[in-house]
Amino acid sequence: MRIPLLPFLLSSALASPVSHSATAAKGVYWLLAGDSTTAPNGGWGDGFLATTVAPGSAGHNYGHSGATTASFRAGGDWGQVIQDIGTYKSQYDVYVTIQFGHNDQKATSGVTLDQYKTNLLNFVKETTSAGGTPILLTPLTRRNFNSSGMVTENLAEQRAATISVAQANNVKWIDLNMASEDYVNAIGKTVASKYNLASDDWTHLNEWGGVVFARIVIDLLVEKYGALFEAATKKNETLSELIKAGKPA
Ligand SMILES: *[C@@H]1O[C@H](CO)[C@@H](O)[C@H](O)[C@H]1NC(C)=O
Ligand SMILES: *[C@@H]1O[C@H](CO)[C@@H](O)[C@H](O)[C@H]1NC(C)=O
Repeated sequence: MRIPLLPFLLSSALASPVSHSATAAKGVYWLLAGDSTTAPNGGWGDGFLATTVAPGSAGHNYGHSGATTASFRAGGDWGQVIQDIGTYKSQYDVYVTIQFGHNDQKATSGVTLDQYKTNLLNFVKETTSAGGTPILLTPLTRRNFNSSGMVTENLAEQRAATISVAQANNVKWIDLNMASEDYVNAIGKTVASKYNLASDDWTHLNEWGGVVFARIVIDLLVEKYGALFEAATKKNETLSELIKAGKPA
């Protein structure tokens, strides 16, 4: 009697897929678009995928060292993101985090602040038309301290530009720049230095730094858009509490 059972189960599953998908929400597929502060070996993206994503959800880190909003498209990374939205959207709710600014702001980038805004908006529009949901992130703070012992606010223009694009176009966004800056100010320079990728690199994160700043990202997302991300998130209350309290993690 076992042999006829299998075709029966298969055909009934095919005939009524709704009864299955109606009970279980789709997982989230994260596509992380950004520069080196998102990328493997220096950013928060790999820590995010490794430590904050619950079973049933997944993702890919497309962060690219040195990327501007222009080179990320010209070099083909953006095309991969759009292709992946098509690949994963039937099985998952696809979210694309978009975080740039560190390289766009350099005088040599060839990207003006207005172009930065236009490029962000084009990423947003293309994500939406491909069937994904864009989320704009203000750029992760660098951890350089000025002579008053405070983090130097050297991404303020990119932060404001990112927020203005999000607000003017009704796009989801989180203020990673402010949250990461607040945390780094709270722990101070000596503690902050233990997240440096190299001892004198106050921009890029080592592996544990990636885990800590990834937790800031997911905590901001869950705090602001809880219902969308709670089930897709693996919690670490200990780490979240330390960050919230401004204590070393
Ligand atoms: C250091 O940075 C803080 C925060 O941006 C700022 O208020 C303060 O004026 C800066 N101090 C110096 C000496 O630049
Ligand atoms: C959660 O965070 C704590 C505090 O930072 C850390 O020691 C611990 O390893 C983390 N737990 C997991 C499962 O990652």
